Amino acid sequence: MNKCNHETITLAIESSCDETAAAVLTGGREILSSVIATQIPVHQKYGGVVPEIASRQHIIGIMPVIDEALHKADVALADIDQVAVTYGPGLVGALLVGVSAAKALAFSLNVPLIGVNHLEGHIFANFLSHPALEPPFMALVVSGGHTSLVDVRGYNDFSLMGETRDDAAGEAFDKIARVMKLPYPGGPEIDKLAQRGNPCAIDFPQALSEEGNYEFSFSGLKSAVLNYLHNAEQKREEVNLPDVAASFQRAVVEVLTHKAIGATKRAERNALVLAGGVAANSNLEKRLRQETGREGLKFYFPTRELCTDNAAMIACRGYYQAQAGKFSDLWLNAVPGLSLTSTQS
Ligand code: KG4
Ligand code: ZN
Repeated sequence: MNKCNHETITLAIESSCDETAAAVLTGGREILSSVIATQIPVHQKYGGVVPEIASRQHIIGIMPVIDEALHKADVALADIDQVAVTYGPGLVGALLVGVSAAKALAFSLNVPLIGVNHLEGHIFANFLSHPALEPPFMALVVSGGHTSLVDVRGYNDFSLMGETRDDAAGEAFDKIARVMKLPYPGGPEIDKLAQRGNPCAIDFPQALSEEGNYEFSFSGLKSAVLNYLHNAEQKREEVNLPDVAASFQRAVVEVLTHKAIGATKRAERNALVLAGGVAANSNLEKRLRQETGREGLKFYFPTRELCTDNAAMIACRGYYQAQAGKFSDLWLNAVPGLSLTSTQS
C-alpha cells in the first residue's frame, strides 16, 4: 500500500469472548478487512463458553487472524498507524490474549495503543453500516453479557440511561435455549424456532414495564419459562416448543422495544440505534422498526456480520478515541468487569 497521503490506518483486535477477530480500517469508517475465527463449534459440546478453552483457542488463533487481516487489507505491518484492542468487559483470560498481542505490536511498531470498551465498540458498529450516521442518538445495546440504554451525545460523550439488574437479554435467550436442548448459542436457535410458533400462546411476565423505568430484569421471565417447562414435564403434558420460543421472545422484544422508545423520547433524541449480538434477532428489528416509524424516529441497526463480535467495530471506536487524544499506555490491562460509564470528550 502506498503510504503517501493515506488516511489513518487502524489495526484492531477483539478477543473478549468466543471470537478471535482482527480488522484493518482506513479513516473512521472504511473497512479494509475484517477476519473472525469463531470458536462456537469448540464450545458447542459444552452448551456454553468454557473460559479456559476460550483463552487457549485465542492463543492459537490470534497471530493467524492478524496475518489474514493484514493480507486481506493489502497492508504491511509498517503501514499501521495505531493499534486498538478490546480490554473489557469480557473473560479475563480471553481479553489478556488480545491485549498482550496489541501491546506487543504497538511497542514493536512504535505506534499508539488504544484500549477500547467492547460495549462502545458494539454501538460504533453502526457507524460502519451507516456512513452518514452521527451522534446524538439513543443506543440499545443487547448482547450476551449486557443490556443497556445509552444516550450517545457525542463520539466520546455517553450517558447510561439504564441497564439490566440481573441477566442480559442474550443470556436469557441462551439459558432458555439450553433447557430446550437447543445448541449454543441459543439466540439464533430460539429466533428460528419462534418463527413457527404463536407469540401470544403463553403470557410470560414482562418485568419493570412501568413508564419512565429504563432498567431491565430478565431473571423472572427466565424462571417463568423454566417453571412452565418443568410443570409440563411433571404432568407429562406435551409442550409446543415453537409456542414457548415465540412467547418468550415476544416478552423480551416487547420490553426492549417499549423501554428503548421511551428512553429515546425522554432524552429528546430523534434516532434509535440498535447494537450487540441480539440486534440480529429478526423480531426485535421488526418491532423497533414499526415503533420508531410510528413515533417518527429514525432507526439504525448494523448489518448482521457487524451485530455480533468483530474487530471492525473496535477499530472504529478506537479511531474516534484517538481523534479525541484518548490513547492507552503499555500498562493497559484486561478489565473483565469494565462498564459503560459517562465519558466526556
Ligand atoms: O454481542 P455478542 O456477539 O457477544 C457478546 O458481547 O455477548 O452477542 C452474543 C449474544 C448471544 O447471547 C446470542 O445468543 C445472541 O447474541 N444472539 C441472538 C441472535 N443472534 C445472536 N439473540 C437473539 N436472536 C438472534 N438472532
Ligand atoms: Zn459483544
